[in-house]
Amino acid sequence: MSADLTTLHTARTAPGELPGTMSAWVIREDRLGEPKDAIQLEEVDVPEPGAFEVIVRVMAAGVNFNNVWAALGQPISIFRYGDHPETGHHIGGSDASGVVWKVGDGVTRWKPGDEVVVHCNQASYEDVEVHGLDPLAAPSQRIWGYETTWGSFAEFCKVQAQQLLPKPKHLSWAEAASYGLTYFTAYRMLMDQANMQAGDKVLVWGAAGGLGVFALQLAKAAGADAVGVVSSDEKGKLVEQLGAVGYINRNEFAGMMRKGGETPEEEKARFKTSRAFSNRVAELLGGEQPNIVFEHVGKATFPTSVLTVRPFGKVVICGATSGYNLDFDVRYLWMKQKEIIGSHFANAWESTRANALIDEGKIRPVLWKTLPFDEVANAHQLLRDNQHLGKIAILVGAKDEDEGREETTPARPGAIRAEVGA
Ligand SMILES: NC(=O)c1ccc[n+]([C@@H]2O[C@H](COP(=O)([O-])OP(=O)(O)OC[C@H]3O[C@@H](n4cnc5c(N)ncnc54)[C@H](OP(=O)(O)O)[C@@H]3O)[C@@H](O)[C@H]2O)c1
Repeated sequence: MSADLTTLHTARTAPGELPGTMSAWVIREDRLGEPKDAIQLEEVDVPEPGAFEVIVRVMAAGVNFNNVWAALGQPISIFRYGDHPETGHHIGGSDASGVVWKVGDGVTRWKPGDEVVVHCNQASYEDVEVHGLDPLAAPSQRIWGYETTWGSFAEFCKVQAQQLLPKPKHLSWAEAASYGLTYFTAYRMLMDQANMQAGDKVLVWGAAGGLGVFALQLAKAAGADAVGVVSSDEKGKLVEQLGAVGYINRNEFAGMMRKGGETPEEEKARFKTSRAFSNRVAELLGGEQPNIVFEHVGKATFPTSVLTVRPFGKVVICGATSGYNLDFDVRYLWMKQKEIIGSHFANAWESTRANALIDEGKIRPVLWKTLPFDEVANAHQLLRDNQHLGKIAILVGAKDEDEGREETTPARPGAIRAEVGA
């Protein structure tokens, strides 16, 4: 059945009732490949909520790289995971803002009509890790809209009730859908995993990127000094606007990037450039090395991160954009008693606390572009081709990029509009 977008911006049923079908951007196993071909608009059945589940009418969705990987089927096909074998389709999208439309058995905290944003961590209520350790440790843990279907690139999405957070009223639907995945990840990395304190010194790689813009704002809000690394002076201006004490254009230290397969001489030369970079970081931090390094670049930067962090300092890492096989001189780790900490997304408690800072206007989303629903596949192709300059939000139920914003007392600013960066 072909999708009908004429009613996209009108509620076809009253809250509490679901229509039979909906428009959705769907990936199927037999057409994995480039996002523009793999992600296609279809009319699919609207799911019913199970126990402790909620159906949300999506007003806006946020674009993340994970749905590019889902489209490509790399490095693994997501069709082996979660509810994919059962439904046979993947509706991606791990960030959403919207309205609670129908609740399943057992849901008492939320009711139809509530305005929400969604965090993307799921775990089974029955796993014991959820009740005392951390949902991220549960065997059933999944990233919604990546390792599960029923994500936000559809008129309705299906989530666990614990994924819901109140929508900050001063943000439009588009702004509210733009920050969850990256911001909540940065929050866990710095606030809980690295235990960032006032007076700390922080080095942030990819500082104008999806994670970086929030790492800088969190450091500023916590009373820590941060230096951001970027690849252009234009991005450096955004980094300063976000509260960093300074930025470094990494092109000035291109020789520090680890490529692999180096001769001993090349390795020595790389180390020398890393040392110069490390000195420049300390200079910008008032003569002190950082005690926290915020890592997600991986292979290219990890040896420099371990070298640059202060003795007894922490390198906290959640990704590896440049490659996940890391090697580094371990003597700098053990002799100086440094720590490496792995981190992955955030739990409901962390997401709630982080969302409260957005609600209070202490942290602001950073948005590049808002696109209409029919641009979902093209938006992912932009990411795939590295043609994007920052964060993209997609209008689903919302008609325009300002819809959903309410006046608050005191007045709070919305998203930072950035020409480059996240
Ligand atoms: N585990 C989790 O829960 C989780 C959550 C979110 C993201 N991630 C992962 O974290 C990574 C970053 O995510 P993001 O949303 O921040 O991506 P992003 O918006 O693309 O930003 C990443 C930034 O890293 C910098 N970078 C890229 N390649 C580099 C290299 N070779 N050397 C130095 N810097 C480089 C770039 O900035 P410059 O060019 O300006 O330096 C880029 O803007 C991704 O791999 C993502 O999959 C993991």
